[in-house]
Amino acid sequence: MSYQIGSYQLSSRLLLAPMAGVTDRPYRDMCRKYGAGLASSEMISSDLSLVNTRKSQQRLPQKDEPGIRSAQIVGTDPEVMAAAASFNVNHGAHIIDINMGCPAKKVCNKAAGSALMQDPELVKKILNAVVAAVDVPVTLKIRTGWAKTQRNALDIAKIAEDSGIVSLAIHGRTRNQGYTGFAEYETIRQIKDSLNIPILANGDIKTIEDAHFIFDYTKVDGLMLGRISHGRPWIFKEINDILVNNSAITPISTKEKIDTTLTHIRAIHRYYGTDQGVRIARKHIGWYLSHLVGHEAQLLKPLTRKIFPIKNTDEQLDILGIVLNDF
Ligand SMILES: Cc1cc2nc3c(=O)[nH]c(=O)nc-3n(C[C@H](O)[C@H](O)[C@H](O)COP(=O)(O)O)c2cc1C
Repeated sequence: MSYQIGSYQLSSRLLLAPMAGVTDRPYRDMCRKYGAGLASSEMISSDLSLVNTRKSQQRLPQKDEPGIRSAQIVGTDPEVMAAAASFNVNHGAHIIDINMGCPAKKVCNKAAGSALMQDPELVKKILNAVVAAVDVPVTLKIRTGWAKTQRNALDIAKIAEDSGIVSLAIHGRTRNQGYTGFAEYETIRQIKDSLNIPILANGDIKTIEDAHFIFDYTKVDGLMLGRISHGRPWIFKEINDILVNNSAITPISTKEKIDTTLTHIRAIHRYYGTDQGVRIARKHIGWYLSHLVGHEAQLLKPLTRKIFPIKNTDEQLDILGIVLNDF
């Protein structure tokens, strides 16, 4: 079964959650390969004066990126956000996603991200301005509210629907929770029950059983998977096999997992070049190793100690290949 965003019919109801510093082009390619229905960009500042920085250039939608391209923008000013949305569409985005879910201090000090949920009037202005500025579907990502006592996600969701937002993702935590505690799904269930647009549940989907439970409990149209995909892009295939296609998981061989790891690291090197590439690859290597070798520190530490000091792309790949083929 698929998920609909405006006129776009996605190939799967499992979407990749945007994660700054993680869901770059190589990561998105891997997740799409294993069945992510949509893989949005990392958040892009709506401040167009930053557009020529290396960071922004790397985060902009890539014109040669296959499939449906969604660009996530973050900001506080309706006109600036509208201009950023148009800019991203002109640079190849098929969908604009608005970030009202990020709890990061840097974002929230400017009252952007999830801080906006404290100001429903401003939310309305931003959503109306962005929807009016572009001809493509606009989606929104929110949390359940600012704090436990200010869980206003349902009000924000209604504003979103009235403003022409065509799909809403809800992370089941408040802004004050950051990433601590647990996600709750009752608020998501209420929103799904009250709105007509497609809804995505997000937060703490750590196992296939979690995915099962959240679909059943909330009746949402799709799930957004974040950290579960770190070092494990094949999770999209596994959950799709069980939940969506109702079949047993077709196991992915260790050889395929190793090939995928090396292909992903090679793509990171190509995308970022040597210095940045080797650095960025380290965290992904750590994540892949923890899935392939095991999470125990006594297993992982000797391997990361061997690989992390390497500063050269070819050597990093060679040693990683040896380590992986050795166990
Ligand atoms: C490293 C990291 C970066 C993130 N960056 C973004 C972002 O740029 N935009 C956004 O909307 N959410 C961002 N998030 C939140 C995720 O999209 C997601 O809502 C959150 O991780 C909960 O889902 P999960 O439990 O499946 O990881 C980020 C999360 C992490 C861990």
